[in-house]
Amino acid sequence: MQSATLAGAFDDLADSYDHRHHEEIARALIAWVVPGAADAVADVACGAGAVARQLAPNRPETARPILAIDLSPGMVAVGRALATGPGGDAAIDWRVADAVPLPVAAHSLDVVLCASSLHFLGRRALADWRRALRPGCRVGFTLPLATHFRPSERFSRHVADDVPLPHTAQEASEWTATCGFTGVDSRIHVLGTRRVVVTSATSPDGP
Ligand SMILES: C[S@@+](CC[C@H](N)C(=O)[O-])C[C@H]1O[C@@H](n2cnc3c(N)ncnc32)[C@H](O)[C@@H]1O
Repeated sequence: MQSATLAGAFDDLADSYDHRHHEEIARALIAWVVPGAADAVADVACGAGAVARQLAPNRPETARPILAIDLSPGMVAVGRALATGPGGDAAIDWRVADAVPLPVAAHSLDVVLCASSLHFLGRRALADWRRALRPGCRVGFTLPLATHFRPSERFSRHVADDVPLPHTAQEASEWTATCGFTGVDSRIHVLGTRRVVVTSATSPDGP
């Protein structure tokens, strides 16, 4: 039987998840934001940790483990199994929980990254990222391009109605600025027939 919850839907998908596709999106996101090797980083709604697993091998041993948090125990279990090799699992702090709010103190993160998930989290996530980030630090996320988003019925009912999927990079930047971020920069990333918008922005200095 298919689970009615979002976590259950991703649990059911965990073993057949398209890792190659999502790892390419995560790579594009990392290249757009360029986190420092020792930065305090969160991989928000990490799934199988496409972002965290790419950052882990370059992490110095002294750096705080990357917070990788997701609602789906099945996706996190797959991520843990894939996180082997140098810097692998030890560099990642896996959590199974709601990612909003993030379980971190205010202004304690240098970088928040969220690949392919913000449209499930809703706009409230951006307010929380402003809380979690040190002023002047970076956030990066990807969203599907509106014209290329075709979720199945079981996923579409979990899509937040307060995150407008962008038709252009400029739309993504303008919306991000309305959420209180500055220095917003977006681009469209092409993956075969699919398209995503990659956005980076800065957490403002003031409240
Ligand atoms: C399309 S997957 C993307 C996963 C991963 N970031 C990647 O790039 O492969 C969306 C993920 O968002 C997670 N998710 C959705 N809402 C969440 C929430 N409120 N808290 C934590 N995780 C959430 C789902 O469990 C799922 O793993």
